[in-house]
Amino acid sequence: MPAIVIIGAQWGDEGKGKATDLLGSRIDYVVKFNGGNNAGHTVVIGNQKYALHLLPSGILTDGVIPVISNGVVIDIEVLFDELEALTARGVDVSKLRVSANAHIITQYHRTLDKVTERFLGKKQIGTTGRGIGPAYADKINRVGLRIQDLFDENILRQKVEAALDQKNHLLVKVYNRRAIMVDEIVENLLSYAERLRPMVGDTALELNRALDDGKIVLFEGGQATMLDVDHGTYPFVTSSNSTAGGASTGSGIGPGRIERVIGIVKAYTTRVGAGPFPTELFDESGEFLRSAGFEFGTTTGRPRRTGWYDAPIARYSARINGVTDFVMTKLDVLTGLATIPVCVAYDVDGVRVEEVPVSQSDFHHAVPIYEEFPGWTDDLTGIRRFEDLPVNAQSYVLAVEAMSGSRISAIGVGPGRDAIIVRHDLLD
Ligand code: IMP
Repeated sequence: MPAIVIIGAQWGDEGKGKATDLLGSRIDYVVKFNGGNNAGHTVVIGNQKYALHLLPSGILTDGVIPVISNGVVIDIEVLFDELEALTARGVDVSKLRVSANAHIITQYHRTLDKVTERFLGKKQIGTTGRGIGPAYADKINRVGLRIQDLFDENILRQKVEAALDQKNHLLVKVYNRRAIMVDEIVENLLSYAERLRPMVGDTALELNRALDDGKIVLFEGGQATMLDVDHGTYPFVTSSNSTAGGASTGSGIGPGRIERVIGIVKAYTTRVGAGPFPTELFDESGEFLRSAGFEFGTTTGRPRRTGWYDAPIARYSARINGVTDFVMTKLDVLTGLATIPVCVAYDVDGVRVEEVPVSQSDFHHAVPIYEEFPGWTDDLTGIRRFEDLPVNAQSYVLAVEAMSGSRISAIGVGPGRDAIIVRHDLLD
């Protein structure tokens, strides 16, 4: 089972760590292939809590080689802050590999992210403000900086000059901000070059060799399917391919290497930032899900928008990603509800629509059609076998599975690492 991809199947924060933990010691490499420090996962090991935004979670597992591959945008200051914080707590970070082709987020990307959002006013996307969009825009515009540029000062300077040439006009004349100096950026970036050098390499070559040697490589997607720049709710998306195909382009391994695609779904739905969300709740049920599920952003602390499970979205994700297995997280959060609605289709301007509409305007008008399932009151957190779940919880999972386009192979029933019910081995 060489390459396995884990992706979020909704709008992010589905709890991918649960699936990563399940695979745990059987993994040789963990690769972050998209996004940057807009992600956020809290990992609890023993009595220590770690909040990671940029580093792949594999950095905390002994024996695993963590990789940041070419599809990622790296804020080097954040990279070193996270590495130093982990080193201070005794974590060995020496195995980290960083692609020479990954792009760099600089101060001007962060500034532009914030000013453009402010400029958009009510139409803003609600980005994390970490410079993700502007750094990817520069990559596509062919004025980006790559990690390898840090090792050639002349090239670096030329590229920063070219990038700032346009941006300073924009910053000064449109956004009324001060111009950013080339020297300031170049000196800041060069100050990290020698510390970074030993970690940097041709990670595509290294990963292909690892796969040739029969190693197990886990590709951990940042963000989620509905935030993917091609397949998500554009323009309310992140700027990278957070779907399974992104693992191939974002790391340089052939798509045929990927044998398993694990989609993570919450037993309900959440979203941070703006954009359509058909099953969103604005009443006390939404508040219940937010407080019971502790739905606040790891990166920005923002309260998450909450809503019921949306089966057309799960089917869409199953299709776009080629999901082989779903892991459903946070089933325990639904405990105590008398009935649990699940969106089975949409009403779009009076017409019943079974799948996510391709037209963004239709999706904005989509009103969920719900089917209601009876709830349960028993505490689920100690349960480890599917048959031991309350009958109504079993029925909920089986009904949702039948609508979601792939089998549900594991179910999260509590915050602890081991609070999971496994129905099918994810590596089988
Ligand atoms: P950006 O990635 O900072 O450009 O933000 C674009 C959109 O993606 C915003 O709606 C963010 O809230 C959302 N987003 C980015 N990263 C995450 C994540 O890790 N979880 C959930 N939402 C995210």
